[in-house]
Amino acid sequence: MSQINSTDFKKQKNLIALWSYTFLIIFPLLIILGLLMRLNQGEVIDLGIDNFYVVMTLHGLGMAGLLYSMAFGALWYLLASRYVKLNIKVGYFIYTTVIIGVVGLVIATLIGKFGAGWYLLYPLPFKGTFWPGWATALSIISLILLGIAWLIGNIHVVYALARNFGGLANIIGWQYLGRKKVDTELPPVVLIAAISLIPGVIAFLAGAVFLIMFLLQNFEPGLNFDNLLVKNLIFFFGHTLVNITLYCCLGWVYALLPEYSGREWKVNKLLVYSWNATFFFILFAYFHHLYMDFVQPKPLHIAGQLASYFSAIPATAVTMFGVISQIYRSKIRWTIVPTTFLLGVAGWAIGGFAAVVDSTIAINKILHNTLWVPAHFHTYMLTGVVLFLLGFLFHLTQTKDEQVKDKLSITGFWTFLIAAHCFVASFYAGGLNSIPRRYSDYTGIPMASTHSTGATLAAISTIFIYILLIGLLIMYFSIFKNLRQWYKNPSKT
Ligand code: HEM
Repeated sequence: MSQINSTDFKKQKNLIALWSYTFLIIFPLLIILGLLMRLNQGEVIDLGIDNFYVVMTLHGLGMAGLLYSMAFGALWYLLASRYVKLNIKVGYFIYTTVIIGVVGLVIATLIGKFGAGWYLLYPLPFKGTFWPGWATALSIISLILLGIAWLIGNIHVVYALARNFGGLANIIGWQYLGRKKVDTELPPVVLIAAISLIPGVIAFLAGAVFLIMFLLQNFEPGLNFDNLLVKNLIFFFGHTLVNITLYCCLGWVYALLPEYSGREWKVNKLLVYSWNATFFFILFAYFHHLYMDFVQPKPLHIAGQLASYFSAIPATAVTMFGVISQIYRSKIRWTIVPTTFLLGVAGWAIGGFAAVVDSTIAINKILHNTLWVPAHFHTYMLTGVVLFLLGFLFHLTQTKDEQVKDKLSITGFWTFLIAAHCFVASFYAGGLNSIPRRYSDYTGIPMASTHSTGATLAAISTIFIYILLIGLLIMYFSIFKNLRQWYKNPSKT
């Protein structure tokens, strides 16, 4: 551990407080957009087709961007306050650029009616759209800003870690693979940060390439890029972004859970092998998004299926085994923080399993583009990543004794979690009943039973969305109060 001086610590504290407030305010607003979509699909309200896709685009881009930014911000704080000096000016540059990008996206969607979905499927944003050209241009520029901020952030953290721990090979743990005894132990959070952020750099570069192609196309409509190439770039970028959001969070689960269980969680050969394997496989797993693109060379489909299977096994198995050995007979006090970590890992495992099912080519033929797809990623984002983030915020702002006394937050947490699982269950049930995804409503489906099943499931799911919002609100009473006190109190770390 490195010692951070009090002035630098105060600056890092200000930055994480800013990220936390931003996350806490925007997150429920994006949930409300999700609620509007489900109300529309349930035929309770009528948004109109155009508005549905506007809402879907802002919700999808917003959630993915917000959760990644907050996960990155939290990891940054943890690394900066314990292990490595990170430049606060770079931190503020990232925050400001992200906020400008978000404002741009809000204007492009809510005012400009940009509604191409998060994946901006080429050449969709340029052909026969119901929104003006400036909204497409603003969306692209905003996404470029977000990409620049994240790219610089990842490079800065990886560079600082590599400098501090003796090189790139050391931060991905290769010193553990030789015969020599390791002199300086590598904290697991550093290993996982490196394994998350280095593929992030590659993914953000791929994002930059397709966004620049989009920008050129926007100014020169005569251009024509290869559709398959663009789709590969987009899905490599999007899939990796979501994957590394989860891994950033796992970094602090490895770092913080031992503080509750009282047991060490150290880097060893097995951990290094499994996280290095994950590093390799996450780069290729995205091919499972392109099974229906028949022009994609067949070996890449097979690589996609294999990489999806293999990417799920090492990190998941080792992390779960690690979590079990952390808590088994450990006399851990089940306050909100270890509870969110344990159940967050469970959400990750459930959603991950559903993803692996869908990445099986024979099954994908049936589940492709049904509600099974949002089912699996909502599971590991809403009942995985969001739990890890809440756990981080409670850990940051409450002592263990305060957590024991805070019964209200635990009540809010269980309300949120049970409702969240019921909400995603409506997506799984939709997938199993062949309800298509990304339909504004199901009235156009000529099969009466499919139409009514889709609408009924959507309407029922809104009840759970209201309940999970209530659960969140209950936790907010405590989080906001504690965050304010923590921020004002200079002695609290
Ligand atoms: C209670 C919270 C949430 C609700 C009510 C909700 C609701 C929805 C709905 C109804 C859809 C459209 C499904 C379809 O028919 O295809 C959707 C799509 C999506 N949601 Fe959520 N969601 C929630 C949380 C999240 C979270 C935490 C994430 C984090 C990444 C997320 C990311 C997305 C994405 C990326 C899409 C796809 C957008 C697209 O296809 O362009 N959502 N959500």
